[in-house]
Order: sequence, then C-alpha cells, then structure tokens
Amino acid sequence: MAILFDQKTQVFTLQTRNSAYQMKVVDHGVLLHLYYGKKIDSCDMSYLIQWTDRGFCSNPYEMQMDRTFSLDHLPQEYPCYGIGDFRADCIKLVNPDGSCVVDYRYRSHRIEKGKYALAGLPALYADEDKAETLIVSMADASSGMELELYYGIIEEADVITRAAKIVNPTSKTVYIKKAMSFCLDFLQGQMDWIHFYGKHTMERQPERARLLHGRQASGSLRGTSSHQQNPFVILCDPESNEDHGDCYGASLVYSGSFLAEVELDQFDQARLVMGISPEEFNWQLGPGESFQTPEAVLIYSGEGFTGLSHRFHQAAQEHVIRGKWKDERRPVLLNNWEATYFDFDGDKLLKIAEGAKELGVEMLVLDDGWFGKRDSDYSGLGDWYVNEEKLGGTLKELVEKINALGLRFGLWVEPEMICEDSDLYRAHPDWALRVPGRPGNIGRSQFVLDYSRPEVVDHIRDMIFKILDEVNVEYVKWDFNRSISNYYSYALPAERQGEIGHRFVLGLYRFLEELHTRYPHILLEGCCGGGGRFDLGMLYYSPQIWCSDDTDAVERLKIQYGTSFGYPISAVGSHVSASPNHQTFRRTPFETRATVAMAGTFGYELDVNCLTKRDQAKVKRQIKEYKNEQDLICKGDYYRLSSPFEGHAAAWSFVSKDKRECLFCAVSTKLQSNPGAVYVKLKGLDPKLCYKMGERVYSGAALMYGGVLLPIPGEEYQSWRYHLKAVGK
Ligand code: GLA
Repeated sequence: MAILFDQKTQVFTLQTRNSAYQMKVVDHGVLLHLYYGKKIDSCDMSYLIQWTDRGFCSNPYEMQMDRTFSLDHLPQEYPCYGIGDFRADCIKLVNPDGSCVVDYRYRSHRIEKGKYALAGLPALYADEDKAETLIVSMADASSGMELELYYGIIEEADVITRAAKIVNPTSKTVYIKKAMSFCLDFLQGQMDWIHFYGKHTMERQPERARLLHGRQASGSLRGTSSHQQNPFVILCDPESNEDHGDCYGASLVYSGSFLAEVELDQFDQARLVMGISPEEFNWQLGPGESFQTPEAVLIYSGEGFTGLSHRFHQAAQEHVIRGKWKDERRPVLLNNWEATYFDFDGDKLLKIAEGAKELGVEMLVLDDGWFGKRDSDYSGLGDWYVNEEKLGGTLKELVEKINALGLRFGLWVEPEMICEDSDLYRAHPDWALRVPGRPGNIGRSQFVLDYSRPEVVDHIRDMIFKILDEVNVEYVKWDFNRSISNYYSYALPAERQGEIGHRFVLGLYRFLEELHTRYPHILLEGCCGGGGRFDLGMLYYSPQIWCSDDTDAVERLKIQYGTSFGYPISAVGSHVSASPNHQTFRRTPFETRATVAMAGTFGYELDVNCLTKRDQAKVKRQIKEYKNEQDLICKGDYYRLSSPFEGHAAAWSFVSKDKRECLFCAVSTKLQSNPGAVYVKLKGLDPKLCYKMGERVYSGAALMYGGVLLPIPGEEYQSWRYHLKAVGK
C-alpha cells in the first residue's frame, strides 16, 4: 500500500520506494503538509510544527482564542488567496459578489487503484497494480465551491504526481484567476533552487541560487513552455551535488505559459508552487462546471542530482512516453534543413536520399518548404497542400522513390501557425490570434492560429491528415516558430478572453492525441524553433524533441547537459551538422560532432554528398557504432561526469542496468600549452568488476575512484568515445 491514512491521527502518508510524503487534516478541516523526503514510516510528523503566537499572523475565526494557529506560517497542501496566508498561493477565485476569498477545507477522501488520468490533458500513466491514486475532496463552506486534490503514486518510480480540479456546484458563475497544480511547503527553507533558463539556440542552462527572502520565480508568458525558462525546477540542500544531498525536482506536464514560484518566508520556511501562469489567465466557471489544472511530477532524491535525474528519466521513459516508439529503436535520420533550407526540388532531395542511404541513414526527413507558397519563411504557413511544382511531382511519388531506396520518410509541419501571405489567411483572417483594431505583432512573419477554436484545429487537422492518409509518412516533425502574444479570439466573449492561452494548449493536445491515435506507427518529433517546448506535456505525444536549433557541438554540450537534468537522453533530438557550424561559424572535428550527437536520438543535418570521401566513410562507421550503442544510450543510466561549464573537458557516460557495459564520452573544451593531466572519474560501474577499455583491463574501482586519464588533445575540441565491457563474472 503506497497510500496510508491513519483515522486516529488523520495523517496521510504516501510512500514510494525511497521517499515519503505526509499531510494531515487538523482543526476545522485545514489540510497541512507535514513532510516530503527520505522514506519514513507513518509516524505523525506534525511534532515538527512549532505552534506559537507569531506577530502579524492572523488566525482563522474558528480558532477563537488560539493564536498559535495561523495559515500565515503553517505548511499547507493547497494554500488559498485571501484568508491570511500572504505567501505564494495556489488559488484565487473571484466570487459572484466580487470578493476573492475562498477557504478550502477537507471534506472527504478516496483511495483508488491505478493512476488517475486527466481528460484532455497529458498525465503520467502506469499499470493498475503499479500505482495508486488519492483524491482529497475539499469544500468552501461559505460559497459551496469545491476542490479535488489529486495525488498519483507510482511507488517503484519514486513518483508523486499532483493536480487539482476546481468544481462549481453552485448556481452562480465564478472566475478563476489562478489555479496552480500544487504547493510544496518546507519547514526548513535553507535551500538552493536550480532553474533552467535560456534563449533560442541556447536552451536549458542550469542556474543555481540560494533562496532569498521573498519570491523568486521562473516562468513563461509566451504560450509555450519556452526556450527562456523550463517548467522543471529543483530545490535542494545547499551542499547538494551530483552524488550527495536532498533534492526535490518538480516538472509540469504542460506546454503552455507557466509559473514556478519559490518563496522563502519570514520564518525561513520555503514554498514552491507551480502551474499555469496566472498572468493572462481568467477562467469563467459556470454552474456545474469544473476546471482541471495540468499535472505536475514531484520526485525526491536523497543521493544528489544524478539520482534525481535517473528518476526523472525513468518517469519520462516509462510513464510519459507512449506507444510503439516508447521501446522501439528510433531511426537514424537525415534532415534536409541545414542541407538545403528552402532551396530544393524533388531531384535534389532524391540525390541526398541516395547518398544518405548509401552511408546507412534510415530515414529522410523533408523539412520546411514543401507546401503552399513556401520558398522562404515569409509566406505559406496554413496552406497544407503539396507544392508539386517544386517537388516535380506528387509527394506520394517522391516518397515512393525514397522508400524504394530502402529509406523511410518523415515530414515537417508547423500546424499552429498562419502567414499573412497564405490562402488560409485570405480566407480566414479572423483565425489569427490578433486583437481587432490593433496591428498585432508578427514573429518570423507569421501569426499564431486561434487553436482555442475547435473548428480551426479541425480544419488544419483535416488538411494534414489528408496528406498522412495519402503518403507513407512514418515520422512527423511538429514545429512552432514564434511566441504567442496579442491574445484575442473572435469566438469568445469579452469575459472569456482570459481563457485563450489554456484553451490553445487544450486544442493542441486534442490534435496531437488524434494524430497519435490515428497514426500509431508515426514517430513524432516535437520542435519549437529547437527546444522551445521541451516539456513532459509534449513528451506525452512526441517521444523525442529537437533539442535546439543550435547544432554547434560545443554549444550543444551545454544545452544537452542542462536538458539531461530533467529529461531522458532518448528524448533529445541531436544531429551532426556541417562545419563551420551554421549558427556559430565554429569549426569542430567531424568525430566530435558525432560524439555529441550520439547523446540523443542520432541523425544528420547536412548533405552527405558534399562531404569528403573520408568523412563519408566516417558517417558509415558512426551510424554503425550508434546502432550498436543505441540501447545503451537510450535505455542505460546516464551520468554527467564533468560539466561543460568548468574545467578542460566535458564528459558523460551511459551505463547498462547490469553495469557490464559502459559508453564513456569526453570532449576537450579547452586547449592549453604545457597541459596538466585531465582525469575523469567514471560512475555507476561495479567496483568489483573488471572492464576492458581499449586494449587494457581496469577494475571498476580504479575507473571510478582513480578515474580515466584523458589523452592530450591533438586538436581543438577533440573527443573520445570508449566502450567498456566487463570481463569475467
Ligand atoms: C525551426 C526548426 C528548424 C527548422 C526550421 C524550418 O527553426 O527548429 O529545425 O525546421 O524551423 O523553418
């Protein structure tokens, strides 16, 4: 039993393999949070709370003379706005009388087998015997408004999920101004927080800071989870590192605007709340209606960041990513974007395909420019019909030729966008998100389609499904190339305009779900100008995501390093591209580009016909090697061995579950004259086993505690890949 409820103490204890989470119903139904951390029994942890009268901390009316009970310092599960807790809150409603007070108290609970699902929203899944669900029902006595708090426990995976549902059983309409997915309170708040910031072509850079008194936040107002901040954060002991320390990771299963707020309060307690960004949000909730927040995943690790990442990787791989491609090997693909940009025709593509097939590539992906009037990024989005003139025939014919070579075929789409210069815009100018009477703003010469309107989603879906029905497409790259602004939907009245952002995401999810159901064989790769929508919500539909538009191997070291904290390697779309690199103009060795791209779902982003014979031979070997290592890379345990932000080399490894195989990779990041030795200590090996590495055999203990001595680099950014294999028993 992963969920225990002690009737006498009114304590809930949620247990996973290595962690426990505790809460308690106290006086007048207030639901307090007591504990989250290393596994404990069901011992009532409320002894940790100091009940004392604190200045300027008011008390709920029912407490009368008891001044020690104040929501302003008690740890809570879902703090409400307006009732005397002035910290970051989870919920703010506007009642029919204009007041914003709601006071949710415990009413009942139920425990169910299996993991709950959320209608219309992505959520973790698990076999029925591997998970349990706790639903705590809360109610506001004065208004009659209700709330359900969802807790999903996947014991083996150390996962606790949270979500909330706001229910309006009254006869009046209320407005939801803020509805977060969860709150996590810590009595002892001396902690660091790590968030992942970035920009287009430099996503998910880890930034660590001590919690300061007051609120710190990361989030996105861009309608996507964004390049700029990721909906994954870590709170940890200040001493935590890769191998030691208490760390708490929280990841939203959501792809739209979000807020992650951390607060260190006046009594040095910490609070984390995460959910849909309240900034643009205003949801009308009529009588009988309910509103479901997205889900969040919480994971605790007592063994530092490596343990935390391993658990997040497992959670994503086993409980988020679905369907055929969850376990199946992903094809090594060649994407024509950096090879041709918009400048291609059918013959050129076929030549690339022939060259690629020759070297072992398994799939050709036709990127942007195959549809409508789309010879540049100034026009055509929305016109999802094949430009047969450009291709010199139908897409079906082209794909048949590509298939006849023995290559699979993949196609790029950007279904949520519309260019002003498109037939779609000329027919439906009101389908673009744009405020009437205002010019709006364009990003990459495009507007965003109003996906809050079901008919818009249906129209685009039908156009795209028509192609997928006719042509043998086995992979779709789903792109999104601007941020959303100027929210306004022609289909909604003034008082509902605050719903568009979330309705947009719901429209996107519906489309993706229909695509997943109708074409279960299609591998979807998410993309948003690279990694601008790299989140668990997208991973539920697309098992891999193009990690960044920056294909420079050296910058990718940092991007992939940051990404690895919260997301599995199998999800990271990563390709070898030309040198000098198209984004940074940096020159890097061909093998280094492969070393870095192999830390993900591998492919090429160049015209192999333009390579020298020597490099073509390397491509052949790289693909062979990747395919040999693919299971280890995508299913093994990933270790960050040294940071690309420090020292002289970035290093990482993949270790098989049985610890008998390891792929160790390193890239020299700094040349020095008269260099000192550079050592990398391996991790996750069996100290008692012996491993063959190159021509020599080393003990696991030697490799982990003494380390590997890296060769002196003979050129800038040289890289090394070593496959270690255990010898003997
Ligand atoms: C985005 C993607 C690229 C490519 C282009 C095409 O920037 O991230 O990989 O598909 O769009 O326009």
